[in-house]
Amino acid sequence: MSPTAHNRVEVLHGVNLDALGRRSPEHYGTLTLAELQTQIKRYGRELDLEVAFFQTNNEGEYVERLHRLPEVADAALLNPGAWTHYSWAIRDALEIAGLPAVEVHLSDVGEREDWRRLSVLEGLVLRTVSGKGPEGYREALEVLRRELGS
Ligand code: DQA
Repeated sequence: MSPTAHNRVEVLHGVNLDALGRRSPEHYGTLTLAELQTQIKRYGRELDLEVAFFQTNNEGEYVERLHRLPEVADAALLNPGAWTHYSWAIRDALEIAGLPAVEVHLSDVGEREDWRRLSVLEGLVLRTVSGKGPEGYREALEVLRRELGS
């Protein structure tokens, strides 16, 4: 793939997503983060996307990763975990990154507690995919594939 291909997507998982596999399976399924990432990588290959991964439980590190993202990626797929619902710093950082982005949640955040209904990313992302489990990541990658052109 040529360096001008514009096909690099970084998947940024936030707080507590490293605990997948031991979080409530009715919401998050049974895959560990490593298993989920393997699946996302496969989706990416099928769509001719070069997918890289980042996860942290530290909000500042997430913000700093977003600041540097334009140097290493053409698009972002974000699942910030609970930060989704209150971290305006992460919203600002995504705005600074200025990359096309899609938000994904494994669980259906619209059908759970009220506080999960708010997303700080609303209006900044091309699409929010929620409640579709790992399959939601494929849908998000398809949106980014179209956005980046083929
Ligand atoms: C989540 C939904 C969030 O509300 C929650 O805090 C998470 C995971 C999801 O993938 O469903 O940690 O982002």
